[in-house]
Amino acid sequence: MAQATASPITLTINGEPHTLTVDHRTTLLDVLRERLDLTGTKKGCDQGQCGACTVLVDGRRIVACLQLAVATEGRAVTTIEGLAEGDELHPVQQAFLDLDGFQCGYCTPGQICSALAVLDEHAAGWPSAATDDVRPEAGPPALTPEEIRERMSGNLCRCGAYVPIVQAVAKAAGQAAETTEESAA
Ligand code: FES
Ligand code: FES
Repeated sequence: MAQATASPITLTINGEPHTLTVDHRTTLLDVLRERLDLTGTKKGCDQGQCGACTVLVDGRRIVACLQLAVATEGRAVTTIEGLAEGDELHPVQQAFLDLDGFQCGYCTPGQICSALAVLDEHAAGWPSAATDDVRPEAGPPALTPEEIRERMSGNLCRCGAYVPIVQAVAKAAGQAAETTEESAA
């Protein structure tokens, strides 16, 4: 009997369920862009090296060009299209806009999705390769420009907008910290 080469899957994308049949070799990136018309997620290298296709799956960042769509069955995907609330941009999007954290904008959706994950990973106390003291009792490291550069190092920008990108992530981190303090007060 011939083996099936396609299967039906259901993905929840930006809160909406989508059921479709996909060839087993199809990447999540191609499903988003070619099947669901969610073209905010960009294809750069298509081999996991540039970060342009970064999306969140169950809250964790992944490069969608290396993720098979069938392996995403039943999981929750967040793309750049799912971040704003109506006309109100997500604070990370607003920070990129306020600080000109882009030039051509091609890498920007991936940068922003990655930045969201950076803030969550940092809030959860995850160290990075730039963290001096990784002992649990040392607590989370300050989100310095060096920490941000390391944590965002999977996202390349051919325009070289790295300085304002780091500034935008730092601004969003500051706002997130303020919100956390306000809700704890
Ligand atoms: S397109 Fe996926 S990492 Fe470059
Ligand atoms: S803004 Fe052009 S590639 Fe980053």
